[in-house]
Amino acid sequence: MKSLEHLACQDKDVTEGACGVLRLVHRSGFVIPPVGSALRDRAEKLFWRVFLLLTAALPGTINAQTADQVRSVQNIFEPVGAPAEMLHRTSILVLLICLGIFVIVGGLLLYAVVRYRRRTTDDDETEPPQVYGSTAIELAWTVPPILIVVVLALATARTVGEINNTKFIGDPLQIRIVGHRFWWELHYPKYNITTANEIHVPVSYLSTPRPIELTLASADVVHGFWVPELSGKEWLVPDRENKWWIQPSILGIYLGNCTVLCGLQHANMLIRVIVESPEDFDRWVTRQQRPPTLDPNVEEGRRAFAANSCGSCHRIEGTTSNGIFGPDLTHFMSRQTLGAGVAPNDDKNLRSWLRDPQVLKPGCLMPEMKLDTQQVEQIVAYLKTLN
Ligand code: CUA
Repeated sequence: MKSLEHLACQDKDVTEGACGVLRLVHRSGFVIPPVGSALRDRAEKLFWRVFLLLTAALPGTINAQTADQVRSVQNIFEPVGAPAEMLHRTSILVLLICLGIFVIVGGLLLYAVVRYRRRTTDDDETEPPQVYGSTAIELAWTVPPILIVVVLALATARTVGEINNTKFIGDPLQIRIVGHRFWWELHYPKYNITTANEIHVPVSYLSTPRPIELTLASADVVHGFWVPELSGKEWLVPDRENKWWIQPSILGIYLGNCTVLCGLQHANMLIRVIVESPEDFDRWVTRQQRPPTLDPNVEEGRRAFAANSCGSCHRIEGTTSNGIFGPDLTHFMSRQTLGAGVAPNDDKNLRSWLRDPQVLKPGCLMPEMKLDTQQVEQIVAYLKTLN
């Protein structure tokens, strides 16, 4: 059973749910009865049939998740990858301890309410004995809480230490993330790629771990990076670099948020982590490294883009546009969303964004550029060639 679990969890298509069930079966010491070999074979077959049937009905199981599937519900209880799993273990310990405290305190309270409730028959309305300065009681409500806090602090410190001092197997992929109001600037120094808002990373298998080291900085105010399934929260602070890492082990698109109130559009400063197969990731890298498209059919759009000073804020490689205040648009069409995840990147939203970004994202730093309908159409056509 052990080798089976190992193999299954390495398989590209077998995901968390199936591995979880396998682990459970393994831990519970499930043994097929040592009866006649024919019966045993049949029992084994039956077991696997039921197993596959059950796991197919669970979320995140065999073949259930592909790289383009969005995990729209963020959930700290479904960690995917090493640091999130470490945090999850500590959270469970903390929650169990808190649950214990809740049950004890709540139970005592309930007991007192029921046991000492006002009764019409035997209530002589005298005061119960008033106890002052009881050493036993003082110790009882001082020492255990201190011990509980010490346990919680030590468990947390251990997890923080484990995450901070992890020795990576192999060379981690480096990504530099710079927080802006209200979007994320992304750099892949090894590949010389600059993009925004959507973090593409290769999936990490047990056999080939692919840790991803994040360097977090800020261009303006303090922001916070958090993708609940993949990582804990980390700060992005101006004039400082913080390190963090993720190691996602299941394909899919994971959503995250800025966790520090940074202005009007803080709530729409969304993160997408696209965890894809190593092959898809390589394809994405090749696409991002390609020189930008120079389609002669959209010359008017290119001119309108330049004439309206769009290039003061946005960069498009190979053109005079080299602004740094807004997202790099060199491979704009490779992104799924607009305005840091605020709307899908389609024609309708793109038109709306160009007419007035304040409609989709009120308070974002891109002003209404007062473009007329023709200019909007020309720039849309131009942007759509930026693959
Ligand atoms: Cu950035 Cu909140």
